[in-house]
Amino acid sequence: MLKRHIVLVGFMGCGKSTVGPLVAGRLGEPFVDLDREIERTAGMSIREIFAQEGEAGFRRRETESLRDVLARRPHVVAAGGGLVTQAENRRLLREKAATVWLRAPIDELLRRIARSSDRPLIQGDDGMERARRLYREREPLYAEADFHVDATLGPRQVAELIAAWAAQHGGDPSRGNEERITQRITE
Ligand code: S3P
Repeated sequence: MLKRHIVLVGFMGCGKSTVGPLVAGRLGEPFVDLDREIERTAGMSIREIFAQEGEAGFRRRETESLRDVLARRPHVVAAGGGLVTQAENRRLLREKAATVWLRAPIDELLRRIARSSDRPLIQGDDGMERARRLYREREPLYAEADFHVDATLGPRQVAELIAAWAAQHGGDPSRGNEERITQRITE
C-alpha cells in the first residue's frame, strides 16, 4: 500500500506514460496520466489548450490538475515534461509525493519525439533546437527527484526498478526527506 504518490517526471519522450501503468500494475495501485486529466477537465486536447490559452493557460490548468490528483489517495502519476518548471508544482510534489526522474540522453529523447505532432512546445522548424534548450534548462529540476532511473532500459525493466525502490521504502519512498536521493541507479 502506497503512503505517498509516486510522480514520474522527466523530459518529453522519456516514457512516463508507458512506464506509469506498469509501475501501478506491479504495486497494485491506481494510475493517472496528468496530461489526460488536464484534457478531460478542459474538454480540449493539449494542442487546443496551447492554441487557445497559450502556455500560461496550460500551466494554470496543469497546476490545478496536479493539486486535484494529489488530494486523492496515493496514485502513480505520469506528469508532463514541464511540470517541474513551476515553483508551486515543485512545492506540491515535495509535500505530497515521491518523485522519480526517468533519465535519458537528450539525443535519444530527440530521436523518440522527432515525429510527434502533439507536443506544441517543439513544433516548427526549430523545434529540436528548442527542445535541446528546454532540456538544458530543466535538467537541474529533474535532478531534484528522489530517485533517478535509466530510461534507456526497456519500459518493463524501468517499471520493475521503480516498483522495487518503492517497496523497499515501505510505500513511503521520500519519508522524512533525509532519505532523499537514496540511490541513483545511473550513477
Ligand atoms: C510538455 C510536455 C507534454 C505536455 C505539454 C508540455 C513540456 O507532456 O505536458 O505538451 O512542457 O515538456 P509529455 O512530457 O508527456 O510529452
